[in-house]
Amino acid sequence: MSNQFAPLKNDTFLRALLRQETDYTPLWLMRQAGRYLPEYRATRKGAGSFMSLAKNPDFATEVTIQPLDRFKLDAAILFSDILTVPDAMGLGLYFEEGEGPKFERPLKDEQSILDLKVPEEGSLQYVFDAVTQIRRTLDGRVPLIGFSGSPWTLACYMVEGQGSREFHGVKTLMYKRPDLMDRILRLNAEAVASYLNAQIDAGAQAVMIFDSWGGALADGAYQRFSLKYMQDVVSKLQKEKDGQRIPCIVFTKGGGLWLEQIADIGADALGLDWTVNLGQARERVGGKVALQGNLDPAVLFAEPDQIRKEVTAALHSYGKPSAGHGHVFNLGHGISQFTSPDAVSVLVETVHEVSRQQRQS
Ligand code: CP3
Repeated sequence: MSNQFAPLKNDTFLRALLRQETDYTPLWLMRQAGRYLPEYRATRKGAGSFMSLAKNPDFATEVTIQPLDRFKLDAAILFSDILTVPDAMGLGLYFEEGEGPKFERPLKDEQSILDLKVPEEGSLQYVFDAVTQIRRTLDGRVPLIGFSGSPWTLACYMVEGQGSREFHGVKTLMYKRPDLMDRILRLNAEAVASYLNAQIDAGAQAVMIFDSWGGALADGAYQRFSLKYMQDVVSKLQKEKDGQRIPCIVFTKGGGLWLEQIADIGADALGLDWTVNLGQARERVGGKVALQGNLDPAVLFAEPDQIRKEVTAALHSYGKPSAGHGHVFNLGHGISQFTSPDAVSVLVETVHEVSRQQRQS
């Protein structure tokens, strides 16, 4: 396959990540392709399951494009999941109807941790094929984001075998056997770095690391078991491809207290959850990294007028854009499956309209 792609027609998202001036504040939404869209539910029904969607590049392309056909979003994100990496390490990812993701063979004893290996070459080829096909289909419309889980967040699922409220298993391992914890995290960091670099080779124009469970850690443990390994990953990423900068976004959910430290690991942008005040975050780290976020997804359950008010308040909280500062509008976490697509239209239109006015005032 030749990797010749069409030039970008809308590079607003990439410019904001690189803290260059933009005509308006670009936006995309975490989990923008998903169950709140009737067309996603229809495609998924046809495919049979989430994994058969993700493993088939035609389906993955179709659902990646769906939200872009409805809303004027400024970026596309690869349709896949963070748990494809541990799946490729042999843990056996599956989804039970009505429940979250689970692993058939979680890391339940020392031997399984000692046996753990980075994914075999080719085991994630379906992801890279999807990236290339999506990028071709986008035809330069907007940039394509590739992504991965953070080493720590992947480890949470690998040890617990599923999502968790308290992280009893993984935290016990971390405090009792930090040597084994480090072994998992080292392997994960290596796997995540090659996974993201392969997505960049396949056509991803920006990458994002989801540290969804970093905020479950104590101060000290966060730096030692999550941040350090993300720094490892970031340092191994290719920073440029075909002469274009490939920005990297790091998102620790619940990481508001640690913004200065996260801003120091070499990423271009920080994802923020809704607990953070955008203006204060800008003062703290906004001259060093771009910011992405951070509307509470629950705002989208309100009436259109209230949505407009909250979105406007968030844009004003960030303040008037200026060179050297960048803001990408997003939610503070993934969009809920119960969101009405009409509410998303209101959000998208308001961000574009108000942020243009802000630049003119
Ligand atoms: O943002 C996007 O539109 C791209 C696709 C994407 C998915 N998962 C698709 C998905 C991305 C970026 C993810 C990341 C992901 N996956 C994270 C990190 C972000 C976060 O939410 O903190 C995590 C922790 C996961 C693990 C995961 N995958 C969970 C907990 C679930 C079940 C939760 C749910 O919403 O059902 C999944 C499944 C999943 N991943 C779905 C989608 C669209 C729902 C699958 C379906 O039933 O169709």
